Amino acid sequence: MAFSYFDFVPQDLARLSWVCAAAMAALLIQRVFTVPAHLRHLPRVPMLALLISYLSGDTEDVRIKRHILPYANEQGEGLVLVWALGRWMVHILDYKLAAQMSDNMSLYPKELPPDGLLLWRFIGNSNVLMTNGDKWRKHSRVIRDAFALPIPIDLFASLAKNLFAVISPPSSPQRTHTVDFSELAQRFALDAVGSSVLGHDFDAIRTESLFVREYNGIMHDIANPVYLIAPFLERIFPRKEVIRRMDSLVDGFKKLLQAKKDEPGDDMMTLMLKDPEMTDEELRDNMVVLFIAGHDTSAGGLSTLIYYLAIHPEIQEIARQEVLRVLGASADPSVGTLSATSLPYLNACIREALRINTPISYIVPRAPVDGVTLGKYYIPPNTSLIYNIYAVHHNDDVWGDPNVFRPARFLEKGTPRAAMNKDAWVPFATGARQCPARNFALYEQRALAVMLLREYEWTLPEASIHAKGLKNAFSPFALTLPHDLHVTFTKRQS
Ligand code: HEM
Repeated sequence: MAFSYFDFVPQDLARLSWVCAAAMAALLIQRVFTVPAHLRHLPRVPMLALLISYLSGDTEDVRIKRHILPYANEQGEGLVLVWALGRWMVHILDYKLAAQMSDNMSLYPKELPPDGLLLWRFIGNSNVLMTNGDKWRKHSRVIRDAFALPIPIDLFASLAKNLFAVISPPSSPQRTHTVDFSELAQRFALDAVGSSVLGHDFDAIRTESLFVREYNGIMHDIANPVYLIAPFLERIFPRKEVIRRMDSLVDGFKKLLQAKKDEPGDDMMTLMLKDPEMTDEELRDNMVVLFIAGHDTSAGGLSTLIYYLAIHPEIQEIARQEVLRVLGASADPSVGTLSATSLPYLNACIREALRINTPISYIVPRAPVDGVTLGKYYIPPNTSLIYNIYAVHHNDDVWGDPNVFRPARFLEKGTPRAAMNKDAWVPFATGARQCPARNFALYEQRALAVMLLREYEWTLPEASIHAKGLKNAFSPFALTLPHDLHVTFTKRQS
């Protein structure tokens, strides 16, 4: 018996739509979750655990500690396949294997991110972070020249004083104040990078910067978990409003650049502007990279340091006594007095904070141009490879007690463990593409720590959300940033 169009009743249509929807969902699931054939020989962290972790909003550090590291340890593997951001990537957890990758830039170039992802649209392609080969060499030369300028210690010290005025306003008769230090650290780091690198005073410590508010809002929107799990949705259902706001923020950077051209200063951006080879687009993209790379990372490191010194008053006091011995109660800090050799204990505290809650959990993926062998595995060309810094910093065999804040581990010398710890401490990554601002960032951390240690003693308030362990904010850029870190500061008697 033949059917005509009119023989379909509404129930049949409804059933057909359900079947189509189910088939589409199955295709979608298959596309998003199936391990590509060329990677099936690699050990992989169970998908379901990862998916539940993503859906429950776990931060990267939690996912690494709960799922990635336990699986790798159980299997005795130095690299594992991990599903993230809609695809499978190889995470390298062994620092020697990671060094093999970091030491060979031409074999392991940075992977170019797929077009259209909001995550990357903001950063742009024409900058030191996202280019390879000769283009990268051009950007890198200019950026490294800029970081060879003298470290602006006076600026760090004067920003620290601005911060004191917010922590304990001069008009307040009390000695004790509780403030959201994670927020203040972000404002401090932004002013530091704004004035010295970008050549723009955001005055973020003292004022409510609209620029910063808009940046934080956009970062929050980018982190929508649905789009992170299935990034191709960005193409099917583009988020026009977020894109509009993002483009308008990037426009703001263009204006800053123009202002810098009209009124040059002694900052790094002015130096970059003098380079005849840099186009306006490249300058703007580098400005955005320096803005993002230069403030959230430092802020995360500072918050972690302040947190661990708050919960370990004995360590805080040893660091303070060292600072008072070297700098006295009021001398202005200088490059000499703030060096790692002048303040070995404080420096060890900073290194330990950057290890235990490393600000960048993992680097931008690399993709080998040829097939390579890493450890016992063949890695096909174009496989996404990630140096999982957070995992390397929490490897039991390397650190012994990775979850314990123990600065003294960095004062040990001459033992096999000390040598291993030196090589496996990689918060700034390693190789030619390691952070060009490493020295700048370490001085920035020591400068603020010195000033705070002389001015205040601090603890966590009783009701702190961090009482049972440090909690980080969710970040689409794999940044490890403590959030809502309220700290109680008490002014020291002079
Ligand atoms: C504690 C603070 C910081 C940490 C832990 C840190 C860490 C890192 C890491 C791990 C990388 C490698 C990323 C990758 O290869 O994907 C990197 C690259 C970079 N960082 Fe930093 N960073 C810090 C502070 C800064 C600051 C203050 C600036 C600038 C003001 C900066 C600018 C950059 C730039 C431009 C790159 C790209 C280098 C390249 O690809 O050649 N960083 N950083």
